[in-house]
Amino acid sequence: MSSKNLVERETWTGKLGFILACIGSAIGLGNIWMFPWRLGQFGGAAFLIPYLLFVFLLGTTGLMGEFAFGRSQQRGPIGAFEKVFKEKNIPFGAIIGSIPVAAIGGIFTFYSVVVGWVLKYFSLAVLGAFHHMDIDSAFESFAGHPESIFWNILAILITLSIVIFGIKQGIEKVNKIMMPSLFIIFILLMVRSLSLPGSIEGVNYLLLPDWSYLLKPITWIMALGQAFFTVSLGGGAMLVLGSYLRKDEDIPSSAIQTAFFDTSAAFLAAFIIIPAAFAFHLDVSAGPPLLFITMPHIFTKLSGGTFFGIAFFLCIIFAAISTEVALMEVIVEAFMDRLGFSRKKGVIAAACIGIVFGIPLDLNMSLFGKFADFITIYLLPLSALLAAIAFFWIYGIERAQAEVNQGALRPLGKWWGFFAKYIFVFVAAIVLVLGIIYGGI
Ligand code: PHE
Ligand code: NA
Repeated sequence: MSSKNLVERETWTGKLGFILACIGSAIGLGNIWMFPWRLGQFGGAAFLIPYLLFVFLLGTTGLMGEFAFGRSQQRGPIGAFEKVFKEKNIPFGAIIGSIPVAAIGGIFTFYSVVVGWVLKYFSLAVLGAFHHMDIDSAFESFAGHPESIFWNILAILITLSIVIFGIKQGIEKVNKIMMPSLFIIFILLMVRSLSLPGSIEGVNYLLLPDWSYLLKPITWIMALGQAFFTVSLGGGAMLVLGSYLRKDEDIPSSAIQTAFFDTSAAFLAAFIIIPAAFAFHLDVSAGPPLLFITMPHIFTKLSGGTFFGIAFFLCIIFAAISTEVALMEVIVEAFMDRLGFSRKKGVIAAACIGIVFGIPLDLNMSLFGKFADFITIYLLPLSALLAAIAFFWIYGIERAQAEVNQGALRPLGKWWGFFAKYIFVFVAAIVLVLGIIYGGI
């Protein structure tokens, strides 16, 4: 038996705390190092059509489902799956509910590696080191080598030092500082980037639509995978944040606001990075080179570059740490709810998992890539699908919709239940299948 009912479950102080935590979980590396590149690569403004469609129709539906699933069961994924499966006499609920926890554990592990790189580059920015170093070779001689273990552990310790304080005093508090700061600094950086001569080329790259891309399946696949990942669907983080929600909070509006701010952050990131790269005739590639090679080059060429470099990496730290805390909370909740751990023991256990699994990734970049792909292409979409089936089908769409609507200022009509049960679940299955076929979402 777990100690689930012995201590009262913590709740958010109110709507703002919850929404900011959701936005904090959503805005992350997906917005900063995946979105700008994909937007440019897959037809510019043409990519926005499937992307916005998927985020605002499917993403919000998935979010409402996960928030409501967590709130209705007052448990993280393992407990929530177990409860709804048991009710219908379906076995293995807890085991299936462990899949989302494993997926989140996997994201937490590789995310912490990247946050380590970001911390290192933030410190280089603070030291003004970009001016004196060989930027092109520095990343390769750092990532994949023992030094990165130190930064990985530091990233995990920072996350631990927040999550240990719990929902109100930990996760809520940091998001209340980090999220508004992130937007203010991002807007400042965007103004600076767009004021550079030649930056208009980058704006064109992002916005001139190449409609032919809408005829290519890969555009739609990329948009779909990006949409699910960016709003944090996966039966884990959003479900757990929802499990600390009171019954009178408005789930539909929370989901829409999360999607809106996540999209805004993605746009800001794109309009910071791409125009600046074009202004200095630099390569706009994806992933590590963009953040750790292209951007540092920009900061050596830009007047005020040291200041803007610090601001830029600070923003990435805010975006990534606010995601990290939500990820760690999923693991900690599982330890507390299932094994009766105290929060303190839970965060230590979660940190150990992140470190033990992270070290091999620190030391081997190709392993890192394979691991991240496995989690984001297979395990996370599978988890999102399982959560949708468990809630919309097994718990039952009528009760699911009633839970979504409870506390809503404008309750959703019957059409929503139909959409969630059939269309959303169908598309979630497609994300998984296409990801497997194309091997890269
Ligand atoms: N939404 C996060 C990002 O864009 C990633 C994430 C996915 C976080 C799933 C939690 C769960 O970086
Ligand atoms: Na995101």
